[in-house]
Amino acid sequence: MDVKKRYTITAALPYANGPIHLGHVAGAHLPADIYARYLRQKNASVIFISGSDEHGVPITVRAQQESSTPQKVVDKYHALNKKALEGLGISYDIFARTSSPTHYETAANFFTVLCQKGIFEVHETAQYYDPLHQQFLSDRYIKGICPHCSNPNAYGDQCEACGSTLSPEELIDPTSAISGEKPVLKNTKHWYLPLHKYEAWLKEWILEEHKDFKTNVYGQCKGWLDQGLQPRAVTRDLSWGIPVPLPEGTDKVLYVWFDAPIGYISATKEWAQAKKVDWEPFWQDPTTTLVHFLGKDNIVFHCIIFPVMLKAHGEFILPKQVPANEFLNLEGKKFSTSRNHAVWLHDYLEDFKGKEDVLRYVLCTITPENKDSDFTWKDFQDKNNNELVANLGNLVNRTLNLVHRDFDGVVPPRATSNQSDQHLLDTLSTSFTEVGNAIEQFKFKEALQLCMGYATLGNKYLTDMAPWHLIKSSPVSAGTVLHTTLQLIATVALLIRPFLPQTSKKIADMLGLQEMGWDNIDVTNLLKVGSRLKSPELLFEKIEDSVIEAQREKLERG
Ligand code: 2FM
Ligand code: ZN
Repeated sequence: MDVKKRYTITAALPYANGPIHLGHVAGAHLPADIYARYLRQKNASVIFISGSDEHGVPITVRAQQESSTPQKVVDKYHALNKKALEGLGISYDIFARTSSPTHYETAANFFTVLCQKGIFEVHETAQYYDPLHQQFLSDRYIKGICPHCSNPNAYGDQCEACGSTLSPEELIDPTSAISGEKPVLKNTKHWYLPLHKYEAWLKEWILEEHKDFKTNVYGQCKGWLDQGLQPRAVTRDLSWGIPVPLPEGTDKVLYVWFDAPIGYISATKEWAQAKKVDWEPFWQDPTTTLVHFLGKDNIVFHCIIFPVMLKAHGEFILPKQVPANEFLNLEGKKFSTSRNHAVWLHDYLEDFKGKEDVLRYVLCTITPENKDSDFTWKDFQDKNNNELVANLGNLVNRTLNLVHRDFDGVVPPRATSNQSDQHLLDTLSTSFTEVGNAIEQFKFKEALQLCMGYATLGNKYLTDMAPWHLIKSSPVSAGTVLHTTLQLIATVALLIRPFLPQTSKKIADMLGLQEMGWDNIDVTNLLKVGSRLKSPELLFEKIEDSVIEAQREKLERG
């Protein structure tokens, strides 16, 4: 009996401090979904995880902006983002939350294990404190003058005017962003993960054993490791978060980047409990393949910090791949929540009902796999009109119409053969291997391009063979051409399933195509001679200029 291969697939947990935009989708969630769907089609045992990252300063900042509470903020955006991502067909097995009791317990236990193993260093340092509000100030809550460009509104972690990374002590004339008061320095104790002690191990594990990481990922890791690693505090003086599970930990919480990746493990536990299966094989069995999908700003956390945590704990497997993407821009500029320069996923789904696959298609064609890429509404329109409507949609529509007109809607036999017919079937016979190889190398753009290439071949074949002429001189030959085209369409329907699941199902439904996997597919025999086809339903429709103009104006209004 075949033992199923097991995969744990994660997509970075978005902060529940605002809605999801297309950048999040293209960078992590869509590629992860394509990968998970492909593996399920290959009959692997897959858990695909994401959820809301509900701790950290971004949540408290948002609560302040909305005159709300952190709890209300995370409740609101968790619900909004879950609905939007699932609405796009992202097929998580679980979309969890880091505020769940299972997560609190799992993260606190993880910390306790590391404590008991004597992993942490404890240091006391002086940090800024707001005397009026009687609380320590996280870097984001300290404002002052940038020492590099004199911007008067620089933050304790970064100056947005000149882009410099800062630490709070560097700010000139610091003030508390909460009270406007001058902060004072006060001693505080924190627990540090000694990353420097793992440097040699990380160099071996990444730089030697993971030469297969994508170039952008490998390069960034090498950069961090060449610079040398410092101990990193994994606790914070905040009230929003998971309490540090130690008597001396009062008024302290776990650093959000300590608890968030443990969220993947907690989510697995919650899913397993609901399914009444064991969670451990997904995180502890060395034959399991763990793959993290994320954007480039998260590389250090998933390739360095989280692996050190897992290694230090000792009971967990490490990621086999971290196929991080670069950034997606919007109309030539960075996505920006504060300037509202974004296309929010929930807005798209509202404005383009039934066009989920169009967005999946366009985003997949511009996945920032190796460098930053750009979403423009014009490109969205062009790809819909020229590729989905004119290529795939047109192929399915005209073939089905011909079969209905000339063969009573029934699959005709392949009675005669010709060279182009054989050539086409030969090409299709390797299609599952070719597309599968590209997906397994995380080359999603290329994989989708291959699929569309088969549709182009189908259209060319149909045009070259012109069964609408043949039907007059040789109905048998016309039948053969349509038979072959139908097998090609069925093949494409199966190949595009991970990318365009709704479209794939619609085509399968029209053809009466059975559920099928990925391996050992006989492309010459997907549809049986004599089986009846449904009437064609339009798969895609043209998007008019006015629709695109309206979206552009919405963006300009900000
Ligand atoms: O960058 C972010 O949006 C983070 N919330 C990602 C967390 S991923 C993980 F570790 F949970
Ligand atoms: Zn500056």
